[in-house]
Amino acid sequence: MAQSTVESKNKKEINNGKIPAKETILSPRFYTTDFEAMENMDLSINEEELEAICEEFRKDYNRHHFVRNSEFEGAAEKLDPETRELFVDFLEGSCTSEFSGFLLYKELSKRIKVKNPLLAECFAHMARDEARHAGFLNKSMSDFGLQLDLGFLTANKDYTYFPPRSIFYATYLSEKIGYWRYIAIYRHLEKNPDSKTFPLFNYFENWCQDENRHGDFFDALMKAQPRTVKSLSQKITIGGSTFTHPLFDYFHRFRYFLNNLPLTSKLWSRFFLLAVFATMYARDLGIKKDFYSSLGLDARDYDQFVINKTNETAARVFPVVMDVYDKSFYGRLDKIVENNKVLSDIANSDGNKVSKTFKKLPKYLSNGYQLLRLYLLKPLDSKDFQPSIR
Ligand SMILES: [Fe+2]
Ligand SMILES: [Fe+2]
Repeated sequence: MAQSTVESKNKKEINNGKIPAKETILSPRFYTTDFEAMENMDLSINEEELEAICEEFRKDYNRHHFVRNSEFEGAAEKLDPETRELFVDFLEGSCTSEFSGFLLYKELSKRIKVKNPLLAECFAHMARDEARHAGFLNKSMSDFGLQLDLGFLTANKDYTYFPPRSIFYATYLSEKIGYWRYIAIYRHLEKNPDSKTFPLFNYFENWCQDENRHGDFFDALMKAQPRTVKSLSQKITIGGSTFTHPLFDYFHRFRYFLNNLPLTSKLWSRFFLLAVFATMYARDLGIKKDFYSSLGLDARDYDQFVINKTNETAARVFPVVMDVYDKSFYGRLDKIVENNKVLSDIANSDGNKVSKTFKKLPKYLSNGYQLLRLYLLKPLDSKDFQPSIR
């Protein structure tokens, strides 16, 4: 479990001089939400399915899975310095995202326990899984003489606020994308055992089933969302100050109603799909490209596979999905990757801040334009979108 690996020392100290990862727009984020609205959600519409999912969680299939075997002994020393660095970056990023899931689920399970016990139990089981994943990754980091200070991270990272509905969209997608990412690496290495640089990858098959179950939970949760709700929250937060009045509950319910209108759902689906896909594509083909090469994978093919599969999966719950088959889709994402490369070259070049900003501006504008065009690309209607392999 993650807790047992939490170090009391500052991350910098135990990192043997390694500079902590630079915070960028593409770094894993920590989330927080409106816990009061969450505990007041009436999910009776789909309670049976949620109960069935909770029963699956109780079985805890991976209880004995995350146990390190003798293959780990000396495995870290076998990596050449370049692969080692790429791998440590991968471990750090993965551990942070797993841990971010743990914190959100743990907090949710704690805060909604009294009013929404079923949901709280599901979140507690998912927090258990994510803690295990983060802990296992952190244990691998210690093979390299490093360890992420999860306690320090908890206290010092900024938390991004998302309202419950956005949390559902974003976490559903990150769980499903996590499933496809892990399984794609696992299957590739199964076929190419020579590229298996570290024994950690042997654990990915069962591991990704946890992520798949987590995704299914959010699928059921989104289906449980009625158009109207009995009560959400009597609180409202404006500029850091919280006000309480029964009237605010009507405001939240009206907002909830608007958010659940079919058109709004379609617009949000497109927004989250694009945000998640574009972020992953830009990161994997940019800073993470060499990591995938070290595994014998082409980052572009790998990402396109993961995006296509996640998009297909999302069609089960989102009313519309992205038209990833339109030739402009990956063309525009590639353009963003190209722009980002120029942006980082400018950032690393000599020159003053003002001239750099002027040089960067057209690339930022181009990125904005590509994203806008991608957002406006006619989506696929999920009911007509029935890919043969699900
Ligand atoms: Fe996980
Ligand atoms: Fe997960």
